Amino acid sequence: MRSEHSPTPPQTHLRPQRYKVNARKNISPWLAMAFITLPILASCERPEPEQMRANLRLPSPNFVADAKRGGDLFQANCARCHGEGVRGTREGPPLVHKIYRPGHHADLSFHLAVRHGVRQHHWNFGNMTPIDRLTPEDAGHIIAYVRQKQRAAGVE
Ligand code: HEC
Repeated sequence: MRSEHSPTPPQTHLRPQRYKVNARKNISPWLAMAFITLPILASCERPEPEQMRANLRLPSPNFVADAKRGGDLFQANCARCHGEGVRGTREGPPLVHKIYRPGHHADLSFHLAVRHGVRQHHWNFGNMTPIDRLTPEDAGHIIAYVRQKQRAAGVE
């Protein structure tokens, strides 16, 4: 009778079971290693919340938006296209429109619009160019102003 540890190949009818057992034995250390190392790697690569804000160029968490200041900044930088009282012009859409309500265009989309510009997609005014000269805080003030105008127009 053949011993358990014999180097000769096993009987054909024994093969499937043996290979299954061996495969499981070989893969488990790798699985264990992946379970241990992947979360560590993931946590190393995830930037700190502060770093994420800086990367996205968002105002710091203790920033307090001032809608009045936002109004002046809007007038100087956005009104040319988005109009008096954010009601739009022939160059750009009214931001008091319901598609720009907070639930559909969150503050982040305003920050991205100011920083990167906007490719024409909702209207036929053409693209919006980035407004480079504004800081994330400037954009935050402008957003507060636009949200105030939206609320006044019943767009919430
Ligand atoms: C040169 C004209 C122009 C100026 C200046 C301009 N915009 Fe725009 N903006 C546009 C146009 C045009 C669109 C619409 C693009 C579309 O959706 O078709 C737009 C779209 C947007 C949107 C919507 C973004 C989205 O994700 O759909 C936001 C928010 C916005 N503008 C904010 C601003 C703010 C804030 C300023 C001032 C700091 C500003 N814009 C200045 C032309 C302008």
